[in-house]
Amino acid sequence: MSAGAVKAPPGASRFVVAKASDIAEGGRLLVEVGGREVGIYRLNGRFHALLNRCPHLGGPLCKGGVVSEIYAPVPGDIRHDASRLFVTCPWHNWEFDVTTGQSYWSDRGPRARLFPVGVESGEKVAEELSTGRAERVPGPYKAETVPVAVEDDYIVLSMRPTRPA
Ligand code: FES
Repeated sequence: MSAGAVKAPPGASRFVVAKASDIAEGGRLLVEVGGREVGIYRLNGRFHALLNRCPHLGGPLCKGGVVSEIYAPVPGDIRHDASRLFVTCPWHNWEFDVTTGQSYWSDRGPRARLFPVGVESGEKVAEELSTGRAERVPGPYKAETVPVAVEDDYIVLSMRPTRPA
């Protein structure tokens, strides 16, 4: 699923990109903010945001699948850890931890770029809009603006990259 593009006014770093309910558990939404495409995931009840550009050779990272960890502490003892999730690049299948961006194809390889993302109440978003601390950005597409209602929760994306853990 993908959403329309969102313009980035000069100096803006936080953007309301969708309603929290737009992404079902296990789902993903691609958004374009200021010319950069970002994949927003809802996995195990948490939201994650990754730049849709693989640090290996620039593939569309967020168009790949999501896998969980399977490991064997000793031969024959195969275990599954559903809490550790990885995005898999569709070009060469490198896997990146959704919480750290760490690659596990090559642990010395570059990390996927993560962005802070969280859910804020419609009440808070509406207050920021009414006080001028946030503004709606009109654009040519209907999906570029998100109507705000105080009874909803919203996904708020920050375009400042997070530091690796
Ligand atoms: S471009 Fe993503 S794994 Fe190679």
